Amino acid sequence: MVEKKRVAVIGGGFSGIAAAKTFAERGHEVHGFERGPAFGGVWELSRSYPDCQTQSPKDLYHFTDQTYGENVPEWPKAPDVNAYLHSYAEKHGVARLFRLNTSVETMERRADGRAGWTLTLQEDGCTKREDFDFVSVATGQFSQKHVATHPGEQEFAAQGGEVIHSSDYTDPSTIKGKRVVVLGGSKSALDIAVNVANSGAKSVTLVYRKNVWRLPYFVGGVNVKHLLYMRAQEEQFNGWLPSPIGRVLRMILKPLIWANFRGLEAALTFQLGLKKHKMVPDEPIEDIVSCSIGVATPGFFEALDKGTIKAVQGSIERYEEGAAVLSNGGTVPCDVAVMATGWKQGLSFLPAEAQHKLVDSDGLYRLYRFAVNPSLPDVGFIGFNSSFCSVLSAELVSHWLVRYADGQLEHQPSADEMNASIDVMQEWRRKDRPAAQVYGGLCIAPFHFRHFDELLKDIGATKRKRANPLVELFVRPSTAAYGEFLASAPQYHAG
Ligand SMILES: Cc1cc2nc3c(=O)[nH]c(=O)nc-3n(C[C@H](O)[C@H](O)[C@H](O)COP(=O)(O)OP(=O)(O)OC[C@H]3O[C@@H](n4cnc5c(N)ncnc54)[C@H](O)[C@@H]3O)c2cc1C
Ligand SMILES: NC(=O)c1ccc[n+]([C@@H]2O[C@H](COP(=O)([O-])OP(=O)(O)OC[C@H]3O[C@@H](n4cnc5c(N)ncnc54)[C@H](OP(=O)(O)O)[C@@H]3O)[C@@H](O)[C@H]2O)c1
Repeated sequence: MVEKKRVAVIGGGFSGIAAAKTFAERGHEVHGFERGPAFGGVWELSRSYPDCQTQSPKDLYHFTDQTYGENVPEWPKAPDVNAYLHSYAEKHGVARLFRLNTSVETMERRADGRAGWTLTLQEDGCTKREDFDFVSVATGQFSQKHVATHPGEQEFAAQGGEVIHSSDYTDPSTIKGKRVVVLGGSKSALDIAVNVANSGAKSVTLVYRKNVWRLPYFVGGVNVKHLLYMRAQEEQFNGWLPSPIGRVLRMILKPLIWANFRGLEAALTFQLGLKKHKMVPDEPIEDIVSCSIGVATPGFFEALDKGTIKAVQGSIERYEEGAAVLSNGGTVPCDVAVMATGWKQGLSFLPAEAQHKLVDSDGLYRLYRFAVNPSLPDVGFIGFNSSFCSVLSAELVSHWLVRYADGQLEHQPSADEMNASIDVMQEWRRKDRPAAQVYGGLCIAPFHFRHFDELLKDIGATKRKRANPLVELFVRPSTAAYGEFLASAPQYHAG
């Protein structure tokens, strides 16, 4: 008999919703906490910049048991995603499990000698403490702003200049007629530069440090989803724990794999005009594919051609009145500087001792299956396996975690096994695949199938692949099929 637990879920984005639903369906008493005024996490409307749309196609960015409406575009806009998330939370009875405007401030081991944690909650100006048998942390990787600061910023602001983080750029009317500098070279930076240029800014300058590969939604007319999410493609990258057969195959096929990626680079360089924009990256594309590789924002390279966006390689050195002085010595007129400089990782509510166990000194998280740390009992992490289809990865790991918490995995790993596996993964990230270090090492892309196979095997799913081996090798994952795979595992109910 599995004991019914009182479970806390911290965070009301996709991962928190997945965790709350999965634990509740197994019979646990779930209490969700979201510090914001509404569900949605990165898709909450007050945090989404205009024109923001997914990079994942819609058939790979939903839960296994609910699709988007027919009218939603192939790459849903932020309001579509937000509406989906809300309808899902209502329909599946998850919304009522959450307390909004409730922030988890601290988390410490229970003092009553029982397993679990005591959370300190800040709710409507009141501080409360509540005990839980198990905690699911679903706080996301992109919810603590990293705002780069530069000398002269205070004077710049006092003289009427403005410095904002990318997630605070929500109203295009604020930049009309302004000279805007966007700092950063990743997805938020390009999206915002394009939106600002289309919204009546006087000038837009993108200041970025390094050239990176980006994928357009269509490569040579082919939807990128047909190229990116294949077992056959995935096997060409140096994933963790390659099987002996996989290792030999990669050796034999090395020239073909090399040619495949050079072909892709040539196609991208040609299609996006990277040479003329002096934006050809130095690194081979196969070495850098991870969650940080972004979709090339539609309209960005066209705006460079038209001159409505100017791109300068470098960084901001300091501010002067009405200008940003760059590291290359140049000066760019600037009324508004948008810091598209990303996010900080970290879980400030965890005690320092727990943080030391969880994160190595180089910032890499120590998580078995991207979900648990054997030195931190009664807590698990959802959405720390981010991917190119993060909703599905969050759902799958939620199913893994509830079974782990209930001792219901087909093979319940020992602490030694988990530590050994974590060490192998850390070694792989540090030595074999540095790209896997992005965002604290909490990204499974491009190794979706590998990770999902591991989770399903642990869960005890008897069905883990589609029947047709060719489809399985050359076709993107089917979200609905993963629902069937999960259903093929032994079922149980707590309490
Ligand atoms: C603009 C943008 C677009 C993206 N597009 C894609 C895409 O196309 N495909 C893809 O796979 N991924 C995409 N991602 C990655 C995205 O992060 C995931 O897809 C997914 O939305 C993450 O959900 P989450 O619930 O894990 O985290 P979040 O959405 O960040 O939600 C975490 C929640 O936890 C809450 N929280 C944090 N700390 C506390 C606390 N102490 N107490 C209470 N609540 C707390 C936050 O307020 C937040 O609501 C995108 C990310 C961004 C920023
Ligand atoms: N439409 C969408 O689907 C969408 C939109 C936005 C974001 N996202 C996703 O959300 C995640 C975060 O993306 P993001 O663009 O917000 O952040 P990010 O990927 O972390 O990128 C941050 C950028 O800021 C630069 N930077 C950081 N500190 C800097 C400094 N001090 N000076 C100059 N440059 C600095 C980084 O450059 P270096 O690389 O040189 O460090 C990098 O280019 C990604 O996974 C992304 O794919 C998706």
